[in-house]
Amino acid sequence: MPSDRSRVTVPNLVAMKTAGEKIAMLTAYDFPTARLLDEAGIDVILVGDSLAAVVQGRDTTLPVTLDQVLYHAEMVGRAAEHALVVVDMPFPTFHLGKYRTIENAARVLKDTLCRAVKIEGGEKQAEVIEAVVEAGIPVMAHIGLRPQSIHQLGGYSVQRDRDALLADAQAVQNAGAFAVVLECVPAKLAEEVTRSIRIPTIGIGAGPHCDGQVLVLHDLLGLTPGRVPRHVKVYAELGKTIAEAVAQYGQDVRTGTFPSTKQAFR
Ligand code: KIV
Repeated sequence: MPSDRSRVTVPNLVAMKTAGEKIAMLTAYDFPTARLLDEAGIDVILVGDSLAAVVQGRDTTLPVTLDQVLYHAEMVGRAAEHALVVVDMPFPTFHLGKYRTIENAARVLKDTLCRAVKIEGGEKQAEVIEAVVEAGIPVMAHIGLRPQSIHQLGGYSVQRDRDALLADAQAVQNAGAFAVVLECVPAKLAEEVTRSIRIPTIGIGAGPHCDGQVLVLHDLLGLTPGRVPRHVKVYAELGKTIAEAVAQYGQDVRTGTFPSTKQAFR
């Protein structure tokens, strides 16, 4: 069993906000990638329902099932020895009443080594968040742009309703959430929300004043085809590197350059 000595815990994250230490969070969906993030010292790994886009090639997060999320969470949870691993509750697993929501969220803790769930929602989901927290399951909330509500919102746009955001942040804090993701919120408003609550805010497209930042790993690594959203900083061009490597391999096979005597057994 891995040692828990340097494990990031839920109380650690709240303490990081108090100490003014920024929280680095990224998504991962498989064992080797989660290991790399963990060894690089990332504080929180999210098994996001963004796997719909980056693993399954879908347009929205809506088709992802709980069984699919758990399949990925099991691998990530086993890989992480340092990071806190948070697992997205996919649509509509937390809209089915408190009892079934607890039952669904509990599967994350029972079937994987992950230690917290993320629930998209603010004031309207506060009762359910409270019930899950009461059951002993740590909850990270997610307000601002909520991709699971894309058809209701009408598009992936910046969320500017100040009163709604402040009320959502307050409600999820009061419900016992240990942190809250702020997605696509103007930087000034995200700063105001961050100052208004004790729990850490984790921004994505929410400017530099949040207590932490999260990105979808494939966006950061240059593995997302086409244009990436404005809030993404691309740190590597792995898509290009992979395309070049496999094209070279194809050419080497066709020309008989691979395998050479170096890769052959005597
Ligand atoms: O599913 C996901 O990756 C997310 C992040 C974008 C916060 O919810």
